[in-house]
Amino acid sequence: MSEVHIHPVPAEFASRAHIDAGDYEKLYRESIENPEAFWSRQAQDFLQWEKPFTRVVEEDLKKGHTAWFADGELNVAVNCIDRHLPARAEQTALIWEGDDPADSKNITYSELHEQVCRLANLLKERGVKKGDRVCIYMPMIPEAAYAMLACARIGAVHSVVFGGFSPGSLRDRILDSDCRLVITADEGVRGGKTVPLKANVDKALADCPNVHTAIVVKRTGADVGWNGERDIWYAESVAEQSSDCAPEPMNAEDPLFILYTSGSTGKPKGVLHTTAGYLLMCTMTFKYAFDYKEGDIFWCTADVGWITGHSYIVYGPLSTGAISLIFEGVPTYPDASRCWQVVEKHKVNSFYTAPTAIRALMGAGDEFVTKTDRSSLKLLGTVGEPINPEAWEWYYKVVGEERCPIIDTWWQTETGAHLITPLPGAIDMKAGSATKPFFGVQPALMDDQGREIDGEGAGALVMKASWPSMIRSVYGDHQRMIDTYFSAYPGYYFTGDGARRDADGYYWITGRMDDVLNVSGHRLGTAEIESAIVLHDDTAEAAVVGYPHDIKGQGIYAYVTLKAGHEPNEELRQELIDLCVKEIGSIAKPDIIQWAPGLPKTRSGKIMRRILRKIAGNELDSLGDTSTLADPSVVEELIEHRANC
Ligand code: WTA
Repeated sequence: MSEVHIHPVPAEFASRAHIDAGDYEKLYRESIENPEAFWSRQAQDFLQWEKPFTRVVEEDLKKGHTAWFADGELNVAVNCIDRHLPARAEQTALIWEGDDPADSKNITYSELHEQVCRLANLLKERGVKKGDRVCIYMPMIPEAAYAMLACARIGAVHSVVFGGFSPGSLRDRILDSDCRLVITADEGVRGGKTVPLKANVDKALADCPNVHTAIVVKRTGADVGWNGERDIWYAESVAEQSSDCAPEPMNAEDPLFILYTSGSTGKPKGVLHTTAGYLLMCTMTFKYAFDYKEGDIFWCTADVGWITGHSYIVYGPLSTGAISLIFEGVPTYPDASRCWQVVEKHKVNSFYTAPTAIRALMGAGDEFVTKTDRSSLKLLGTVGEPINPEAWEWYYKVVGEERCPIIDTWWQTETGAHLITPLPGAIDMKAGSATKPFFGVQPALMDDQGREIDGEGAGALVMKASWPSMIRSVYGDHQRMIDTYFSAYPGYYFTGDGARRDADGYYWITGRMDDVLNVSGHRLGTAEIESAIVLHDDTAEAAVVGYPHDIKGQGIYAYVTLKAGHEPNEELRQELIDLCVKEIGSIAKPDIIQWAPGLPKTRSGKIMRRILRKIAGNELDSLGDTSTLADPSVVEELIEHRANC
């Protein structure tokens, strides 16, 4: 392993941070040795309860079970809005920066309250009740946050679907969780282009007879199809509603939302999060990992369609009473200096993005960064995939001018909030390491025999105990949650990631151990892409793997076998790419398609993906044993015609 450069916590930063090294050691120890006392205190400090809890945690990881504060009651919208009104009604809650640099606006906490109440009343009028599921398919506009909070206010369970997903993906998610109402916009706007959201909804709803209402925000004013019995305009409808809506008291373990994410097999899973534990962890990590101070302006560039947007654009910041920036556009529009211009314009203090964006901006050249004034920045963060040390150093030196600590936050849709991250005033940084566990989090590494590895070593990353924002279920298929996360290592939560622990106890995430790809920080299941490819009449079989990609982290490499009598050609390649975009969305576009007369299979017919990954990644010296293959000669054929990537 090459020499690792340690960046000590800047002394000045540590002196003003919420948590310094001594606090971290002390609190971490307490959180592990005396979790009941620790979490009970945090839940009282960080959240406002309608009815206090008397029980803290019950868990049985062998069954995948956990419950936190289970007899308490609270409402998430009250925690994110109402409780801030006495002190900060006129303070900005959300800064919206449009795709067009000339568009921005600020929304105060009192405006947020009004908007959320009006929409909540509209949902009620349309028959939405506590426990009902509502689908949100929106561009990055403030109404997306209003919609989430309006659901939370009345106890409805939202399922946000990323606006880049296809009509088919949207349909599948609506059906899986039986949403009866959809909130959307006429069109989205990203990077100067429009996204036909309402048209996509119309296509999706053709197969969703139970959806009785689509509430449509007018974002661009484009002509859109209209079903008079189902569709209503957002602005007109909320205008007729009262601006007061009594919050629904929710049990701590009542569901808050479902968010679909890709797994290694089958269709995406509806990860279910509940109320108190989820909110507590996003609020606490928001304050401590970002070292958030009153009045700071916080910008997370994720889309609300992903867990990062849920936890660190909406719930964590608003529950803290923070100022959260919501950005409609993309980092490279109008040009590669957009992020830094937004930082300069709004005096952003903390900036949180994915390594893929950092690598793309690094590639565009330093000029785009250095011509802007970033003196407001105090902290930088990354999330979603491993960050290579080169990109880390560039972020640190060029963007942050060696002034801003970088927090490399490791977590997942299923974990709800950061689990491994430096606390910036407490933990020295190593470029490329997510460093140490957050309070209460007990990571471990497992060897091939399912034994815990002590000290330095590498293995499967698991958690030894539950944490408040742990996944509670896979919607509609609880057994699938147990099989996926709690069966590989009984008594532990299995993350699906591999990791290494160094001599200082720092964690280095090495990537997924299953068939999940991480493309530009977005999770995709290889099985989903394969299913799309084999929908084409000419294809017999497909196997998809990831390969190292300079910007995206991982690229999508598809091996495709055609049916007898069909010849590969450019047109067909394009049709297959288009099919993936149509079926899933443009994030699923294969980078490389290799025509494969045959795929390497065991004698029992199982595709040997390990070999396909090695070929795609050009690791031809370490293919391993191919003698168990039914026909070893296919490997040579694949190597010979390997695409150069
Ligand atoms: C990966 C995103 C390395 C990891 C919050 C995980 C990371 C998956 C990091 C979850 C990081 C996330 N370093 N890898 N800092 N953060 N990952 O559910 O493989 O979209 O399992 O949640 O992203 O992706 P998800």
